[in-house]
Amino acid sequence: MADVGIDAIEIRTGKLALDLAETFAPEMGEAPEKYTKGLGIYSSSLPDVYEDIVTMGANAAHRLMERQGLNLNDVGRIDVATESAFDNSKPVSTYIAGCLEQVFDGNLHHANKGERKFACISGTQSIDDAYNWIRAGRNRGRAALVIATDTALYARDDPGEATQGAGAVAMLIDTDPDVVSLSKEQGYGSADETDFLKPNQQFPSVDGKRSVQVYLARMREAVEDYESVAGDVRPEDFRFAPFHTPFPGMVRKAAMLGYRHMVRDTDIEDSLAPEIGRQPRREAFEDEDAFRDAVREYMDALKETDQYREWFGHAIEPTLDIAREVGNWYTGSVHVARASALKHAAERGEELTGEGLFIGSYGSGAQAEIHAETVQEGWHEEIEALDIDTQLDERYDLSFAEYEEIHDVHNHDKAVEVEELTAPTGEFVYDGRGRMNERKYRYVD
Ligand code: HMG
Repeated sequence: MADVGIDAIEIRTGKLALDLAETFAPEMGEAPEKYTKGLGIYSSSLPDVYEDIVTMGANAAHRLMERQGLNLNDVGRIDVATESAFDNSKPVSTYIAGCLEQVFDGNLHHANKGERKFACISGTQSIDDAYNWIRAGRNRGRAALVIATDTALYARDDPGEATQGAGAVAMLIDTDPDVVSLSKEQGYGSADETDFLKPNQQFPSVDGKRSVQVYLARMREAVEDYESVAGDVRPEDFRFAPFHTPFPGMVRKAAMLGYRHMVRDTDIEDSLAPEIGRQPRREAFEDEDAFRDAVREYMDALKETDQYREWFGHAIEPTLDIAREVGNWYTGSVHVARASALKHAAERGEELTGEGLFIGSYGSGAQAEIHAETVQEGWHEEIEALDIDTQLDERYDLSFAEYEEIHDVHNHDKAVEVEELTAPTGEFVYDGRGRMNERKYRYVD
């Protein structure tokens, strides 16, 4: 059977930018280095007053379809992954379909629409659903549109405020894909956790420090589960390893654990041994604390080795370029990381066709998923068509006072009227409420 995977991709950022080191940190009484060095984010993308999860998702899907020369009959399924939904019944995909029907001929009446929820991992789960739908032969030759869209806002003064972001990633899932094909093998790490959740509330309840530990624990389980079906993973098996990136510092921690796992009992561990010793083995320690201390010491030393630094710079660092400029986009985050890596390679004239990607998705609550992807021949043309650099350059740079107003505008508990900071052109905008309190949208030429 033909390969199935991502045939096209489009990224849409919120049109405002909050500079974390220059604008946010001083107001919080914090050192800019907490952002630039610790968390690894320079700025957050935020939505202007006329933007939300629907406009960002619809604008991404619109550009993707226009670039691909698609019409509405080519789309048999629209799945939206989000954790910022404003409607507990009517899925965001219906609002986005309504937008697309405003600008394309025909309609999407015969497309299956839905909304996927599992924190940040639901974007990957939606791709999984589309893959299964196509593989089952139920797609009638049509492709699936997967749209991961979020306004990742935290309550004011929550530590998570440092990691906010807003944007959408639209992906076309089809047979004989141009960007990447997906592996059949997958690994899961899933457990009932209460580290980050939104029990019928807009802003999350977060146990930040614990969420970091849960991310690492579930990711480790997922890698082990993946290896149980696909065999052991080695650093040289993949060109890039794009991971869910709530902030780049999180991926730095995950990469260190991953590398330690991958090189255990290999010639890489042997070659590192004269410099930093061999990895501590649990059975050599009498108690857990002593073992953990030894592991921490080993990882501190490993981090400084040339081998680790080279691998990190090669396989991980390029996945973080866009995240540093936009913050956490929740469901879109791992898909931004993949695009970031491919863009890095395209800009350097690297040939990637046939190369492997090792994808680590994660959602709080909590679940991690690992699968592999193979880069396809059309990847370069598709990635070159992205206009994310222009979008980032054109973002409006917020003052702190403007940021406070914009946060209030998007706070569902506040009714604040604020002038827009950018002028919409050639895009969908939020257009107020309808008679049943539904949100309405219109296309601005
Ligand atoms: P915090 O208390 O604001 O920050 O919380 P911190 O004091 O821990 O500092 C952060 C890092 O900056 C630390 O690095 C500091 O050392 C460093 P680390 O030690 O961890 O490597 N630092 C500095 N470095 C250099 N110079 C300085 C300096 N000062 C500090 N002067 C936290 C940070 C991430 C907990 C907070 O922002 C938060 O709660 N964020 C939201 C939750 C989150 O993002 N969790 C990530 C894992 S869960 C996940 O990914 C799922 C999620 O996307 C949601 C979903 O799935 O739906 C969130």
